[in-house]
Amino acid sequence: MIKACVIGHPIKHSKSPKIHSYWFGKNKLNGEYHRFDVKPEELEEKVQWLKSEDFKGFNVTIPHKEAMIELCDIVDDTAEKIGAVNTVLIKDNKLIGFNTDAYGFTKNIKAVHKNFSFKQKTVLVLGAGGASKAVLYGLIDRGIEKIYLTNRTKKKATAIAKQFGKKITVVNWKDKEDVLHEINLLVNTTSLGMEGQKPLEISLDTLSKEAIVNDIVYSPLMTPLLTEAKTHGNPYVTGIGMLLYQAQPAFKLWTNILPEVDEGLIKRMMT
Ligand code: ATR
Repeated sequence: MIKACVIGHPIKHSKSPKIHSYWFGKNKLNGEYHRFDVKPEELEEKVQWLKSEDFKGFNVTIPHKEAMIELCDIVDDTAEKIGAVNTVLIKDNKLIGFNTDAYGFTKNIKAVHKNFSFKQKTVLVLGAGGASKAVLYGLIDRGIEKIYLTNRTKKKATAIAKQFGKKITVVNWKDKEDVLHEINLLVNTTSLGMEGQKPLEISLDTLSKEAIVNDIVYSPLMTPLLTEAKTHGNPYVTGIGMLLYQAQPAFKLWTNILPEVDEGLIKRMMT
């Protein structure tokens, strides 16, 4: 029996159990995927418990992704650079931390636009939180040429730019529309547009019709930004794929099988 789980707080909205239990079934594996609500002060103890119960590994979500780095025995380079662990493999009683969010982000864009290459492209990334770092890592890893980064709180964007290097140019939040005419890709990593949050207010009038618009928010699937992109005639990529593709390498780490993101899974996520 392969046991895995997701830990976070709150956790009841997590879609990870739906994804991994689908793959256990599809690949005819005897596996169980649980979800545990774990408060920050309970994290260390819970992680020890997962080890003692022979869990093969687990996913980590808000608010534990940063704290998990300290609890791992080994952290891979990607997770180290992003400063967050979202997947753990338990092997020989050791905790090995990974971050599969950057992979999930780039794979999602490539899954929808097969011929799209990140090389020689210019992107505008909105937001400078945890998710933004994973997106920036993915973009740089795939050879993006230039990144404009903007955030309501500018100093967070400036700090990230310092960490991630010369490809990033920080733009004032109020001036973000000024660079739209230059970009091939627009990515929203802020929480604006999420259910219960304010919409992202941006005019896409000067955006080239070929530019791809991606929102990493997936609830709702069609965010106000994506609706605006569609109206404007731009190709767009919804956020659900990033969630599905970040789960792929996690499942592989625990089972040695790279599972498929297929129509059955996508349908299951919509219900
Ligand atoms: P995540 O891990 O999902 O990235 P986060 O680290 O809390 O979450 O980051 C949230 C992002 O949404 C930040 O870029 C945040 O901007 P600030 O750094 O200025 O807080 C952005 N965000 C949230 N609410 C916003 C709002 N009302 N207007 C603009 N940006 C907002």
